[in-house]
Amino acid sequence: MTGKSGWDERYSGNEYHYGTEPNAFLVEHYGLLQNPVLSLSEGEGRNAVFLATKGFQVLGVDFSEIGLHKAQELALANKVAIQTTVADMANYTPEPNKYGSVISIFAHYTSAIRKRLYPLVEQALKPGGIFLLEAYTEAQLPRSTGGPKEIDKLLTADKLTRDFSAMETILLKEMDREVHEGDGHTGLGSVIQFIARRKG
Ligand SMILES: C[S@@+](CC[C@H](N)C(=O)[O-])C[C@H]1O[C@@H](n2cnc3c(N)ncnc32)[C@H](O)[C@@H]1O
Repeated sequence: MTGKSGWDERYSGNEYHYGTEPNAFLVEHYGLLQNPVLSLSEGEGRNAVFLATKGFQVLGVDFSEIGLHKAQELALANKVAIQTTVADMANYTPEPNKYGSVISIFAHYTSAIRKRLYPLVEQALKPGGIFLLEAYTEAQLPRSTGGPKEIDKLLTADKLTRDFSAMETILLKEMDREVHEGDGHTGLGSVIQFIARRKG
């Protein structure tokens, strides 16, 4: 269940699959972010809504229309506004030099998508802009606590730093940590956390 229809199906219940609380790594570091914020694969809105409550202007992009509809409902319930756009990262091109920050929370793509998308993400940042990512690593593959079952979609420090080699790394950590986010992320997980700044 990894295509758009699979995600729409996963999000079609009333509950929020990854909960409504923001991701802990984002909560720890959102103070580094600058406006406006682009959120790659925002899903059902928990992170965009959190940032909006902190005063950020956020555009959440995802290919699940159902997920983004629930994101707008979550924003309404929290009395904040977020922007959402339905798009597939396989062919999405963010506006260059526009964003103070781009976030990517548990957004796992094939290497073919990353190869096209990540240079565009870097260009979408204004000079000095911040990219913040948390994702599962290849070490997550045997675990059943969340994340894709295709190794190509899982990250390593090498894969990430190669893709963002022109950026200045601020934080890069691989670790095992407890991730409890709704029914989707349910325990000890192997993750990578990355924050980098666009040079210039
Ligand atoms: C694990 S969920 C994370 C959602 C959200 N970032 C969060 O932390 O709650 C992964 C998200 O990636 C989206 N996604 C996967 N492949 C995508 C693609 N090619 N284009 C756009 N969104 C995609 C899915 O629809 C899903 O919302």
